[in-house]
Amino acid sequence: MCCGENRLQYSAICISCQPMSSLEASFIRPMTETDLDGVLEIEQASFPTPWRREHFLHEIDARHSFPMAAVHDDKIIGYVVLMSLFEEAQILDVAVAPDQRGRGVARRLMERAIQVAMGQGAEALALEVRASNTAAITLYERLGFVRTGTRRGYYEGTEDAVLMELSLI
Ligand SMILES: CC(C)(COP(=O)(O)OP(=O)(O)OC[C@H]1O[C@@H](n2cnc3c(N)ncnc32)[C@H](O)[C@@H]1OP(=O)(O)O)[C@@H](O)C(=O)NCCC(=O)NCCS
Repeated sequence: MCCGENRLQYSAICISCQPMSSLEASFIRPMTETDLDGVLEIEQASFPTPWRREHFLHEIDARHSFPMAAVHDDKIIGYVVLMSLFEEAQILDVAVAPDQRGRGVARRLMERAIQVAMGQGAEALALEVRASNTAAITLYERLGFVRTGTRRGYYEGTEDAVLMELSLI
């Protein structure tokens, strides 16, 4: 069994079980407090207004939150934070270390979040993304998300948020 020692409460998925040589020995598992130095490094490199440690600690403890980390050689290379409550689920945060991008890490994190949301009984998975974030919008569209609306000036009062959703039923 792969990654058996990492199977925590909402189960790990082992990327090394799948044929993707560049990510061999990488896996996704629930995020823990000890991951946060690595997570925060990626967060700060990825967003103009990064989450702080307390945000992640809150999500690790929250009953309806499912933060997951992608790990390679004991190093955090990406993460996703899913919130799933009854029929609604939302991606609250997702990022990959700059030097690990373009290798399918985010796609795998998102696929895992979708699996967990479905397992929780969610009927739809929603998210918000900056209108200028072509990489993220392409990622979501490749996974089947569709645009459902726009929030004008949502970011810093100037940049629009694109609302996207994936039906899970
Ligand atoms: C967006 C982000 C998470 C993508 O991570 P990644 O691991 O590089 O993405 P993947 O390698 O899994 O790519 C998945 C898909 O996204 C698309 N994609 C990824 N980066 C892209 C880019 N720079 N330009 C266009 N498309 C891109 C690819 O087409 C890919 O589809 P494919 O597998 O069918 O080819 C990463 O760029 C990141 O961390 N950005 C900063 C944080 C951020 O913006 N998070 C999203 C907030 S809403």
